[in-house]
Amino acid sequence: MTDILIDTSDSVTTLTLNRVAKKNSFTTAMYSAMADALTQAQADASVRVVVFQGHETIFSSGNDIADFLKNPPTSVDAPVFQFLRAINLFTKPIIAAVCGPAVGIGTTMLFHCDLVYAGDNAAFAMPFVNLGVCPEAASSLLAPQRMGYGRAAEALLLGEPFLAESALEMGLVSRIVPPAEANALARRQAQKLATKPMASLLATKQLMKQGQASLVAQRMAEEAVIFGRMLGEPAAREAFSAFMEKRQPDFSSF
Ligand code: COA
Repeated sequence: MTDILIDTSDSVTTLTLNRVAKKNSFTTAMYSAMADALTQAQADASVRVVVFQGHETIFSSGNDIADFLKNPPTSVDAPVFQFLRAINLFTKPIIAAVCGPAVGIGTTMLFHCDLVYAGDNAAFAMPFVNLGVCPEAASSLLAPQRMGYGRAAEALLLGEPFLAESALEMGLVSRIVPPAEANALARRQAQKLATKPMASLLATKQLMKQGQASLVAQRMAEEAVIFGRMLGEPAAREAFSAFMEKRQPDFSSF
């Protein structure tokens, strides 16, 4: 599909988010395409590394809110949850190049990437509370772990954005570069990884994440149940309607 460009060359599968007019927001079809691409890259011995990249001006504005209203992910088998399970269980290295806004799952998917290279214009946000829902992608577990509880509370309870420098300081991002260089750097690093012994890469990633994958899977499942329920509740309906109507939400009665 053209909203996700998938290219495999020189042992690297690159997924390019390519829906810039809608700020690379993710539709159900895009989640399915990414889940399938990860499953294929996992099974294909010739693929050693996966790269996610967006555009110089935008990584992703998160879930496509219109699509979300049409196809709410109320089942644990919804494409978004298939994608999240696939990225959590992916055993080969994953690199992301992030420029511009990375909102919602645009940020939380990065907790599952091994190396994140950010443009100096990158801005991360997890505004789930502001949308009347709760964290996903196990970000309720991984954000406090990675950022410390205080900064995670600012990001998750207040929904406050944070910039590339803070993301670098907290270890979510490995390096900051000019936006025009981020995708190329991700590619170079992927090619470097692809020349290394695969068994060592797999063992090292597995050891670094030991014990974590099942905790993450459990938290994702718990979040999915709460998220699915909250989507149908008045606060989320108000938040999503407000976004579609380009106005501020009014939570005064919720
Ligand atoms: N879902 C659906 N459509 C979206 C979208 C989303 N998450 N994010 C952006 N779009 C659409 C806008 O509705 C607009 O469509 P239009 O041209 O038909 O009016 C288009 O993409 C451009 O977005 P716009 O908001 O005008 O761009 P911007 O540069 O002013 O702001 C963002 C960019 C990312 C800051 C802003 O779009 C935003 O905050 N998006 C919502 C983020 C969000 O809450 N995501 C949900 C997380 S669960």
